[in-house]
Amino acid sequence: MSDKMQKMIIDTDPGIDDAMAIFTAMAHPQIELLGLTTTYGNVSVDQATTNALKLVEMAGLDIPVAKGVATPWFKPLAPFPDFVHGADGFGNLNLSAPQRSAVSQSAAQFIVEQVNKHPGEISLVAIGPLGNLATALHLDPELPNKVKQVVIMGGVIAADGNVSPVAEANILSDPHAADRVFAAPWKLVMVGLDVTHQILVPRGLFDEIAEQNLRVGQFMRDSAKFYIDFYSEVRDIDGCYGHDVSAVIYVVEPELFGTVSGPVCVATDGPAIGQTIMSRYGIPYPLTDWNHRPAQYACMTVDDLGVLKTFREAMTSSFWR
Ligand code: BDR
Ligand code: CA
Repeated sequence: MSDKMQKMIIDTDPGIDDAMAIFTAMAHPQIELLGLTTTYGNVSVDQATTNALKLVEMAGLDIPVAKGVATPWFKPLAPFPDFVHGADGFGNLNLSAPQRSAVSQSAAQFIVEQVNKHPGEISLVAIGPLGNLATALHLDPELPNKVKQVVIMGGVIAADGNVSPVAEANILSDPHAADRVFAAPWKLVMVGLDVTHQILVPRGLFDEIAEQNLRVGQFMRDSAKFYIDFYSEVRDIDGCYGHDVSAVIYVVEPELFGTVSGPVCVATDGPAIGQTIMSRYGIPYPLTDWNHRPAQYACMTVDDLGVLKTFREAMTSSFWR
């Protein structure tokens, strides 16, 4: 584990597993969370923004939240997956409205401002569809030279997809934006289904968190119940996958993950829409779409128990007392 503080912005569509990721980042002693930027995805962008503000309020912190894109770039907006995260994004707990508001900047403006303020220091951790990052690239084409790295929860290289045989939900939500983000010359690490489907967060861990974390533990357990009930029906597991939290943990413990590298193109139409296709063997194919794209990284192996340990420690730490 690096002992240096890691500056982080989380771009998010909260979302139950987004909440797990955000709380982990808030409590982790090596993470300085500069802000949350929101996108549609699991819920509308308005609901995502309300939810992000609520998470900040529940944690008792004062972290800015900036509202982002409401729709994909080109594709029509698909219905929100209320059967996965609930209509409110938090398992239909229908929490009271937060007392605070989002900042006046857009998500993309906030990202550009913060990255220019701290050149070379910020990890952008994107755990929803990638429209805000694509917009930030448009606002500041030099952004890739100024971020430390981009870590995304999204995509899949060699395992099965979760919204089609080949596609992962965040990428499918806006494949054009994702393709733009993969093509940019920054260091990008994909924490996709190849690894997140190896990380099973057991139901019992949420009971433990609820007992020990009196600030947000009960909320986390109650909302996770909805998410776990969904997974136990469709995947026959008694827990949920640690999708979004893995991207946060990658920033502080990259040694828990094994990566491959190569340029990535995202399929933007046809039955493979949303597929993240990496050319990882350096073969000079006749089809040249991957040429002149930067090599990016994709996590393929993970120490799942190591990820769970860090999640558990963050959620039960003295930060919450
Ligand atoms: C991703 O999709 C969303 O449902 C989750 O929050 C996660 O970011 C997993 O495919
Ligand atoms: Ca998410």
